[in-house]
Amino acid sequence: MAEKRDMIDALIHDHREVEEMFVELESTENSPERVRELTDNVITELVRHSVAEEQYLYPTTRKALPGGDALADREIEEHAAAERTMKQLDGMDPSDPAFNGLLAELITDIRGHVAEEENDLFPRLRAACGQEELEELGNKIQQVKKVAPTHPHPNAPDTPPLNKMGGPVLGLVDRVRDALGARSH
Ligand SMILES: [Fe+2]
Repeated sequence: MAEKRDMIDALIHDHREVEEMFVELESTENSPERVRELTDNVITELVRHSVAEEQYLYPTTRKALPGGDALADREIEEHAAAERTMKQLDGMDPSDPAFNGLLAELITDIRGHVAEEENDLFPRLRAACGQEELEELGNKIQQVKKVAPTHPHPNAPDTPPLNKMGGPVLGLVDRVRDALGARSH
């Protein structure tokens, strides 16, 4: 099963997984089906990662770092912006003229987020938190990973019982958040 990682190593591991998918998405040799599949996998992974960060990373940031509240607020705003882009990409045909621009925007934003966390936030947290605390938080993040759906099916919105959750059919972003018990809005 999953190896043991502290919170920071677990989040860095997520970043690498997403980056691998970004690199594949940037190659021109993918079929539209593969682009759609990779995009769905990126969205699922990023929403799961955002939920893990919102539940464990930012509360720790607020508690442990001077100026942590402002930092956490800014990161959460960035997650919200990325989710708006993901909602636009969700279900969009890769041949849509808007698709490539939105995808490029998402990739740029997430790479910025990754650089910020890995160059600034994570080293500061490592210095401020005990290793035991970071390992405990790492365990909790592994739990989030287990609950999240890993392979979204393209037809999932039409498949009961997901289509019985009431209201309009949910997009992938909300379905992943629901599966994690962390619907945002
Ligand atoms: Fe992150």
